[in-house]
Amino acid sequence: MKAKIKEIEEKFHSEIKNISLPEHLEEIRVKYLGRKGILTSLLKQVSILSNDEKPVFGKLLNNLKTNMSTRISEEIASIKSVKRTEVKLDISLPGIKPLIGFKHPLTLITQEIKEIFFGLGFETVTGPEIETEYYNFEALNTPEDHPARDEHDSFYITSKDLLRTHTSPVQIRVMEKQKPPLRVIAHGRCFRRDATDATHSPIFHQVEGLAVDTNITFGDLKGVLEVFAKQLFGRQTKIRFRPDFFPFTEPSAEYAFSCVNCKGKGCRICKNTGWLEIGGAGMVDPEVFKMVHYDTEKYSGFAFGMGIERIAMIKYHIHDIRMFFENDLRFLRQF
Ligand code: PHE
Repeated sequence: MKAKIKEIEEKFHSEIKNISLPEHLEEIRVKYLGRKGILTSLLKQVSILSNDEKPVFGKLLNNLKTNMSTRISEEIASIKSVKRTEVKLDISLPGIKPLIGFKHPLTLITQEIKEIFFGLGFETVTGPEIETEYYNFEALNTPEDHPARDEHDSFYITSKDLLRTHTSPVQIRVMEKQKPPLRVIAHGRCFRRDATDATHSPIFHQVEGLAVDTNITFGDLKGVLEVFAKQLFGRQTKIRFRPDFFPFTEPSAEYAFSCVNCKGKGCRICKNTGWLEIGGAGMVDPEVFKMVHYDTEKYSGFAFGMGIERIAMIKYHIHDIRMFFENDLRFLRQF
């Protein structure tokens, strides 16, 4: 009996040595100390021993039983503590900085442009990106056979609906709804079937301005755009108007700002002209007022348009319009 007990004890210790998972320890516990376990059945046999032997072996077996269960508990505790050190958290390490959002350069420049016009008493209005031919062309005094339509190579959705080629249709939508005095700007996406290159994109953005009141003059237009130029690019900025043609303004002009880079001396950015062309403008053509039933004798107004990408490229020294639309975070993060 003594030899058997010794053998069981040795077997138990060698088995428990090679264990790494707590569930295997449980298996060992059942195997030796469970209701039908090896040690339990030995203990049952104590009753058939002689009265002299009973206390000796009873004590031996009970000691072994206690030893075994202590050993198992120790082993469970040590496995658990190893696990804990594996996932130990070093709170002194620097954290991972979460990426918070930032504004797209076109959003930033649009906000800046809006702020300036708000200061001049303008408010923002919006119009749809899908327009009818009527708003995009006809109401802007550009009938179907007008050569000015050729410059607006358009994306048609149906035979009468197209993606707006400029923000000028918003002029009509506002005047249909509101009576003068009016001072509004409209900005947003425009679309033209232009081949993509460093300065052209089939999707681009414009800001439109419109002011209608009694006694609005070309001088008001010049004054507004001059203040705008100086606020956006600095006090030294000059503005130049040259005759141009748009079907919906008469007279019409193209306007340019003195080059912000060389201050007008001539450089690579202004192609040695000293000027940066910004957009088109003019006095609202009476034909347009007739379309919206404004009294052409009583009211006059001016309108202007400008490309937002162009302004952002000048302001942020961006040389390729495609950068705005490629969603390259290395570029976008800089603003
Ligand atoms: N809509 C014109 C364009 O996109 C610009 C413009 C706006 C001209 C307002 C005159 C008045 O070319």
